[in-house]
Amino acid sequence: MTLSDATRARFAREVAKYPADQKQSAVMACLSIVQQEQGWVSAEAEAAVADYLGMPAIAVHEVTTFYNMYNQQPVGQFKLNVCTNLPCQLRDGQKALEHLCHKLGIEDGGTTPDGLFTVQKCECLGACADAPVMLVNDRQMVSYMSNDRLDQLIDTLKAQAK
Ligand code: FES
Repeated sequence: MTLSDATRARFAREVAKYPADQKQSAVMACLSIVQQEQGWVSAEAEAAVADYLGMPAIAVHEVTTFYNMYNQQPVGQFKLNVCTNLPCQLRDGQKALEHLCHKLGIEDGGTTPDGLFTVQKCECLGACADAPVMLVNDRQMVSYMSNDRLDQLIDTLKAQAK
């Protein structure tokens, strides 16, 4: 994969924040830029980032796979991450995940055929007391997601769909 000049310029701005011999420190920022521009991080993109930063591709892959905000495959317009760690499990986190999957007709990790929704479980979002909790598109936290509220959320997002 060839990086565009614009992408390389954005990478350069991130690399400039670190000492010259530590440009690998910009790996997370560069992966975020790739995801912002392409919607996900492909193996080819990882290789391009590795090449740019002078690090092994496997080291970049380790970062992509460690943090679940990086999408390792294309996702829907709305990515819904439902917390299913233990405290949330005790307060219907798993039920919320199952309700969403059932409602949308997909498995955990799947995307609806119309490309609107991806549903996946995620690790603790730091809001255990508000369970069930989920994150919409890695940015918007929604809390106390009873089945009714999940249904409302899906309706609202469908109305916002482009
Ligand atoms: Fe779900 Fe902490 S366990 S937010």
